[in-house]
Amino acid sequence: MSKVTLPKKGMSADHILEELTNLKKKDIPWRSGKVLAYVYEPTQETENVCKKAYSMYLTENGLDPTAFPSLLKLETEVVAMAANLLGGDEHTVGSFTSGGTESIILAVKTARDYNKKNRPHITQPEMIVAETAHAAFHKAAHYLSVKVVNLPVDKKTFRVDPKVVEAAINENTIMLVGSAPSYAHGVIDPIEELGAIAKAKDLFLHVDACVGGMYLPFARMACYEIPPFDFSVEGVTSMSCDFHKYGYAAKGASCILYKSREIRSYQIFACSSWSGYSIVNPTVLSSKTGGPMAGAWATLNHIGQDGYVEIVKASQAATEMVKKGLQDIPELKIMGEPVMNLVAIESLDPAISVFAISDYMTAQGWHIQVQFASRCSKEAIHLSVNRANIEHIPELLATLKEAIATLKASDKPAMDIDPAMFASMLEDLTPTTFDALAEMLGLGGSSDGEIADNMEMINGILNKLPAEQRNALLVQFMNKLFTVA
Ligand SMILES: Cc1ncc(COP(=O)(O)O)c(C=O)c1O
Repeated sequence: MSKVTLPKKGMSADHILEELTNLKKKDIPWRSGKVLAYVYEPTQETENVCKKAYSMYLTENGLDPTAFPSLLKLETEVVAMAANLLGGDEHTVGSFTSGGTESIILAVKTARDYNKKNRPHITQPEMIVAETAHAAFHKAAHYLSVKVVNLPVDKKTFRVDPKVVEAAINENTIMLVGSAPSYAHGVIDPIEELGAIAKAKDLFLHVDACVGGMYLPFARMACYEIPPFDFSVEGVTSMSCDFHKYGYAAKGASCILYKSREIRSYQIFACSSWSGYSIVNPTVLSSKTGGPMAGAWATLNHIGQDGYVEIVKASQAATEMVKKGLQDIPELKIMGEPVMNLVAIESLDPAISVFAISDYMTAQGWHIQVQFASRCSKEAIHLSVNRANIEHIPELLATLKEAIATLKASDKPAMDIDPAMFASMLEDLTPTTFDALAEMLGLGGSSDGEIADNMEMINGILNKLPAEQRNALLVQFMNKLFTVA
């Protein structure tokens, strides 16, 4: 157990703030412009406005919108702004949530409970998702006991094939899912075709626009060709859209939108059968700070439509620069045709692993994500070309070139560890077997969350494992991370 205990006497504000400032020094330097994930950085001015609004509402409680009508107004206004951007009409309603995952969990719960009432013969509800749909759908299914029918996608376009979706529908299906776009490859599923199927079969269709909802409408305004993906498509019943991504609001800000109030009623939970105050919660949380709502409201109003269009234009131009620059690096290739600033890059040279490239970039101060291979997609590095990265694209491309040249010149053989070596340990992974395995792999685990420098080996192993074993390993890794003092 950790040795940290509650201090007997409270510390001074100066001491606490100094300690926090020091602690932060170990975090990734997201203001450097070299971080292509995690943080969607607004301008300093917008950040200031958002932070002020957030702290104005930090202590207010969103538990009861009748006690805090100002929060009710902030919520209905930001939800309406999203609905209007996403083809909604006078019937469209929604809720403000803590993030994309919560929005998706609520969409699945609503579909499940609507079907429970209207199609009571279904005892094991199923939802059809492509393998490119965000992991949040799997989490929702896990929490809500809905079965995931996980479909392959086209290996070139990384879009789901509507015919494959149609063939997967059975009497237990409650919901179809399309991404606009998928996070991994930045491509939009064929939403119009999915809408037609959903309508014909009377199924819910959720369009996940968590990452695209505050980007694609502005890209369209800036005359980029964006296929239909929102409520203007017949058959779309719900959409998720995050303000804390390309809306540039502080984290804890997303929304779930529905075609009608009738559908949303299946989302809301009420309980007056206990001895305390009556609970009526539209979303997962009960007591909640008003900060994220106020932060989102302030940010959206501060940036405004013209501001978002300008940011999107600049992000699209920077992404084009990445695409062009990669043409000069024959060992690397963009996967599919991303419509926005999310790019997956594969290695065409079997001797150069994307995980080694990622390690090289990290050593040079860059932070990019890696993606493991799945049924239809090779392992890749992922770039979210954000507003803060725009000026740094020439340097990014030069470092990628340098990474390839260095790795080619290196006589170090590519890492190739066969997970079969520890297959028996993976069969029933417990905290104890995990510790033994971590020791074997030199992943001792440190008290401050630092992991191995050589992620190539770890990622290489994880990449080769079946997803179930990989998940079990990741669970035990996290289980350990939060216990080391
Ligand atoms: C398409 C998509 N859906 C859902 C999510 C989950 O959002 P969050 O991390 O806010 O829960 C993400 C996050 O990147 C996403 O890109």
